[in-house]
Amino acid sequence: MTRRVLDVQGVSAGYGGQAIITDIDLHVDAQSITAIIGPNGAGKSTLLKAVFGLNDHLGGEILFDGRSIFNARTADLVPMGISAVPQTHNVFRSLSVEENLDVGTFAAPPRDAAATKAKILDLFPDLREKLRQQAGELSGGQRQMVAVGRALMSDPKLILLDEPTAGLSPAYLEIIFDLLLQVRDSGVSILMVEQNAKQALVIADEGYVLVNGENAYEGTGAELLANDEVRRSFLGGGGAP
Ligand SMILES: Nc1ncnc2c1ncn2[C@@H]1O[C@H](COP(=O)(O)OP(=O)(O)OP(=O)(O)O)[C@@H](O)[C@H]1O
Ligand SMILES: [Mg+2]
Repeated sequence: MTRRVLDVQGVSAGYGGQAIITDIDLHVDAQSITAIIGPNGAGKSTLLKAVFGLNDHLGGEILFDGRSIFNARTADLVPMGISAVPQTHNVFRSLSVEENLDVGTFAAPPRDAAATKAKILDLFPDLREKLRQQAGELSGGQRQMVAVGRALMSDPKLILLDEPTAGLSPAYLEIIFDLLLQVRDSGVSILMVEQNAKQALVIADEGYVLVNGENAYEGTGAELLANDEVRRSFLGGGGAP
């Protein structure tokens, strides 16, 4: 049987006791990519924040590797094997690339930080040449690589990515998605929110369409790409990608 890394069961969550997402079911299997798409304000970031313990859990259950993390604190989730890249402000611009990566070890030092860093730099060879450069001087795509690299420094089992390709050119978008496939194949599961919905579903093993804080559609990436209603309403219409 496929191992379920993350199992979100009927979760409602929000801010100040007010629900933004309601009754969400979602799962991430081991070594897979799960994509969440949906309109602005649908609650996609709120869902990622709920998994990462950054807002109020109001109902349901969240299992990580079979253990409840409902109401768990972020500081406890990182050592358990979850890390995250937020939608904005996801690198320390005045720190070097290497210092940014090192920050990723603070909350949960990996067993062998040097080996972990070497592995990450093998995945992101562009960064190897820029280790001493300030992150703020990099291109948007390179900064996203730093952000994902930092998240990988704690040796997580699951990474949560909020719009890893936001603002990138189509060419760079492909580079980042290729890297995410390599990250997945290296054994890390990925739960990501994406505005570039079509391309995200192409690389996703599983996808969810979130609308008004609720699950509207669920299926494999291929199923959602083939669904006429999903295509018309959420993928910019037109034919198959
Ligand atoms: N810290 C917060 N406190 C109160 N309400 C919030 C907070 N963050 C988000 N919200 C509200 O939750 C709703 C969903 O926001 P969220 O950021 O989850 O949407 P999203 O689907 O990620 O949108 P986008 O595609 O624009 O990033 C919005 O109405 C927003 O105003
Ligand atoms: Mg968002």
